[in-house]
Amino acid sequence: MLTFSEFLQSRKKPAILEQASYDVLLHQIAKCGQEISLQLRRSGFLQLGQAVGIANVQSEEVLALDLIANNMLINEIEQSGAALGIASEEMEDIHVYSAEASEEEKFVVLFDPLDGSSNIEVLAPVGTIFSIYAVPKGEALTLKHFLQAGREVIGAGYILYGSSTMLVYAEKGHVNGFTLDVDGIFKLSHENIQTPKTAHTFSVNQASYHRWPEAFKKFVDWCGSIDNKKVFSQRYIGSMVADFHRNLIKGGIFLYPPTTETPKGRLRLMYECIPLSFIQHQAGGLSTDMVQSILDIEPKELHQRTSVAIGSYDLIQKLLSM
Ligand code: AHG
Ligand code: MN
Ligand code: MN
Repeated sequence: MLTFSEFLQSRKKPAILEQASYDVLLHQIAKCGQEISLQLRRSGFLQLGQAVGIANVQSEEVLALDLIANNMLINEIEQSGAALGIASEEMEDIHVYSAEASEEEKFVVLFDPLDGSSNIEVLAPVGTIFSIYAVPKGEALTLKHFLQAGREVIGAGYILYGSSTMLVYAEKGHVNGFTLDVDGIFKLSHENIQTPKTAHTFSVNQASYHRWPEAFKKFVDWCGSIDNKKVFSQRYIGSMVADFHRNLIKGGIFLYPPTTETPKGRLRLMYECIPLSFIQHQAGGLSTDMVQSILDIEPKELHQRTSVAIGSYDLIQKLLSM
């Protein structure tokens, strides 16, 4: 079994990733995944799911592990020497490691340190989501390097803390999954993941049905229609990363429609929707905000929200036809 490290050494990579420090950056993120996974195993003793008494920039309650994971990522990514800065769902502004223009290509990392954190206290899966963009050599770091469209992503992935811990990592043209073994090392367990083209699972918080635009209502009605030859299943964990992973492996569609309360959608473009869309597209699936692919949205601000549908090719096409 190839370790994550051996896989990185053996993969074909574009010239921009030739410098060794990019892989060190990935190792540092994987190291955070190992550590967060360990902490989660003991979360009942550590009260990781408790509120720390502050709200983040999105006015959401910050939990202990949100903060721990956030700080761990900031520190470990800096150690790689490959990144000029990071942006996080939990922080209002970008965090700059170095404002100096570099003589070699460098990177920025955007992350949701812990997705689905309200699930910690009930032991349901949560995850860490990240994406990486390049900063061309000779350019000093600015906000524009973070606000790049999803089609510019160099690498994206997530670490899912479920019944096992798995690192799923994608670059253009390939997606691979690495299970965290008992020796604390990520090993290739899911080679070249391709998502099923056709599927019969949908994931959505249907409590908001009456607040959705017509197309989403019609689509979910169609999923439940008695005329369908195959009966659909609805599966919704409430951690986007976990719902996404199930649909990636088994096929399905994840929806977070706009609602009358959140007309621009609720999920975060930069920290959740772009990285997962990038992975989905490499695996043969699609994503959309009902106007364009999530990867074609030109980001305007760090904490931009979007509505999203992401998943198997046929189901996205069906939704778009409604
Ligand atoms: P986070 O814990 O990073 O704030 O994200 C939670 C998100 C997402 O993971 C999940 O799909 C969604 O919130 C659930 O929202 P609803 O409770 O509105 O369904
Ligand atoms: Mn999240
Ligand atoms: Mn989060």
